[in-house]
Amino acid sequence: MTKKILILGINGFIGASLVPQILSQTDWEIYGMDLQEHKLKSSLGHARLHFTLGDVIQNPDWVEEHIKKCDIVLPLVAVANPAIYVTDPLRVFELDFVSNLSVLRQCVQYGKRIIFPSTSEVYGMSKDAVFNEETSELTQGPINKERWIYSCSKQLMDRVIYGYGSRGQLAYTLFRPFNWIGPLQDDPHDKASNTSRVVTQFVCNIIYGRDLQLVDGGEQKRCFTHINDGIDALMKILINKDNSASSHIFNIGNPKNNFSIRELAEKILALAHNYPKYRDNVAKIKIVDTSSGTYYGKGYQDLQNRVPSIENAKKYLNWEPKYTLDETLKDILDYHLS
Ligand code: UGA
Repeated sequence: MTKKILILGINGFIGASLVPQILSQTDWEIYGMDLQEHKLKSSLGHARLHFTLGDVIQNPDWVEEHIKKCDIVLPLVAVANPAIYVTDPLRVFELDFVSNLSVLRQCVQYGKRIIFPSTSEVYGMSKDAVFNEETSELTQGPINKERWIYSCSKQLMDRVIYGYGSRGQLAYTLFRPFNWIGPLQDDPHDKASNTSRVVTQFVCNIIYGRDLQLVDGGEQKRCFTHINDGIDALMKILINKDNSASSHIFNIGNPKNNFSIRELAEKILALAHNYPKYRDNVAKIKIVDTSSGTYYGKGYQDLQNRVPSIENAKKYLNWEPKYTLDETLKDILDYHLS
C-alpha cells in the first residue's frame, strides 16, 4: 500500500528541500502544513502533495487527524536560529519542545513512526574531539546562558522519544543535522536581517555591501554539510530498508568540512568575487571583529568544536557525505547572487 507521510513545517529549509526527493524517489502521498508556501514552489501542483497553509499550533485538530491518517510523521516545526534562543527563549521552548511533545504523544497513541530532527547542538560544549551518538557527554552552560534552551529542549525530546522507544511503545529514528547549509536555508535578501545563521548572514552582507563580522575571534569551527547530503541521508532514514534506521540516532554531518568561521568568511568573499554584480561590494567589504555580547547579547555562549562521528550513518544507512565546502558555497552563491 502507498505510504503516507506527514511533514509539519514543510516549507522550512529541510522540508522544502526534501519534498521533491520524496516525490521523485517514492510513490508516497505527502501531507504538510506550514505558515508559508514559497519554498515549495514547483512541487505545489503535484498530485501527491497535499499542502495546507496554516499554523500547527492553531490547528491541533488538523494535526491529530493527519497523524492518524499517516504512517510516518516528520515534525520539522522549530526555531533553529541562535539569535532567537537568546532573545526569545520561551518561544523556543513552546515550539521546539511543548508543541512537538504533543505530536510525539499522538504518534505513541496511534502507533505511528516518528522521524525526529534532533540537533548537533545537543552535544553543546562536549570536550570530545568527535561526537558519538552513544558515548559522548552532552554539555550545556549555566541557566543564564539562554542559548542552551534549544539544545536542552531538543535533548529532552530525544530522551522522551528514546524512553518510549526502548519500552516498545514507539517506532522512531533521531537524526542530528550538523550545520546543514544550502540555497533554501534563510533569506539573505531580507535587508533588516543581521542575525541569520552564519552563511546566510555573510551572503546578506555581500548583497548589501556590509562588512562580515566575526563573533569572538572567528576561530570556532563548524562542520558544514551540503543540504543535498543531508537529504540523501534523510531519504534513507525515511525509506528504512530492512529497518536499518529503526531505533537509531544518526549524526548527519561532514567531518571533512570542518572550518573556522574566519576561514568560512575568507572563502565566501573569494568565491563571491566571481559574481560580476557584486564585485564592487566584495572589493570594499572587510572582515571585522565583534564580541558575542554586542552581536547576540549576554545570554550567548558558543562552542569551539563540533565534529560528528558518522560511523552509525555509514554502517546502518550506507551513507557518506560527498560535497566539499567550496562546492556547497558555490551552489548557495549561484542561487542568491547569479
Ligand atoms: C546552529 C543552530 O543552532 C541550528 O541551526 C542548528 O541546530 C545547528 O547549529 C546546526 O546546524 O548544526 P550555530 O552553528 O552556532 O548553531 O549557528 P550559526 O548561526 O550558523 O553560527 C555559526 C558560528 O558563526 C557561531 O560561532 C557564530 O557566533 C558565528 N557567526 C555568526 C559569526 O561569526 N558572524 C555572523 O555574522 C554570524
